[in-house]
Amino acid sequence: MFPSDRPRRLRRTPALRRLVAETSVEPRHLVLPLFVREGASEPTPISSMPGVVQHSRDSLRKAAVEAVSAGVGGLMLFGVPAEHDATGSGAVDPEGVLNLALSDLAAEVGDSTVLMADTCLDEFTDHGHCGLLDADGAIDNDRTVQVYGEMAVAQATAGAHVISPSGMMDGQVGVIRESLDATGFADTAILAYSAKYSSAFYGPFREAVDSQLQGDRKTYQQDPANGREAVREADLDLAEGADMVMVKPALSYLDVLRGVAEQSDVPVAAYQVSGEYAMIEAAVERGWLERERTVLESLTSIRRAGADLILTYWAADAARWLGAEQ
Ligand code: PBG
Repeated sequence: MFPSDRPRRLRRTPALRRLVAETSVEPRHLVLPLFVREGASEPTPISSMPGVVQHSRDSLRKAAVEAVSAGVGGLMLFGVPAEHDATGSGAVDPEGVLNLALSDLAAEVGDSTVLMADTCLDEFTDHGHCGLLDADGAIDNDRTVQVYGEMAVAQATAGAHVISPSGMMDGQVGVIRESLDATGFADTAILAYSAKYSSAFYGPFREAVDSQLQGDRKTYQQDPANGREAVREADLDLAEGADMVMVKPALSYLDVLRGVAEQSDVPVAAYQVSGEYAMIEAAVERGWLERERTVLESLTSIRRAGADLILTYWAADAARWLGAEQ
């Protein structure tokens, strides 16, 4: 009989396909990134990310409650300060927008979700770099990580469950771990953006946080040409005390994600970034792609490549679609 193998047998009905699916996406796997803007009384749309806004403190609370009731696994918070300066002082200020918003969310949704905070200076500096600059305008790695340590303590104090260093400075996880341990936050976890590439796909994010950056981040973020380096970065972060590691962006880096996931003995996250969101939304707007199918396929692919959790701007929508499916 020809053909002797018929893999189509297991694709014949929806029930068969459901029975044998290797990968699933559940709402709890999804983390929603949220932006909060200092002094805003209304949410401000982000034009390159249709459907995503810079929240006011009030609208942030509401969006958080909605996402949590849709079943998302967690929230990742970014601050957009009114003032920027050379050292990004708003980041360590307990009254800084990110820290105030974290306290708001801790009060509003508390332990019913996982509150994560972006621990990086780029939103707060007037030059837009993720670190402090020395007299020659170069990144001062070792002074920067000390500030990250202070920033982490301010975020933990405000109620963050997870500190998420995204600045790609050497030694950042170790210094943050020590700072947290020394201030009574031994139980606050670290999600390290271990393999973070210098990517054009962050374009829309720069609008989302009113980034002041001129130039690029190539002396600290990874070169897209390199895969092995990602595994090394993740190993270093684990040795320094990371509780979870991340690969970012997601879709163009699924091989990297797989490589890190194969080596890792901790949960692995992937960040479906602003440009990945914008690409699909733009095509959907033109009627060229179907939103729900495309988004769920991309999330399934990221899970299949090895992600335990996924940061995605569609987290709340996808959680609702998935909830309706069951
Ligand atoms: C840095 C940071 C960036 C993103 C998350 N954290 C920007 C950058 O490194 O240039 C990008 C996220 C996205 O594009 O969705 N604080």
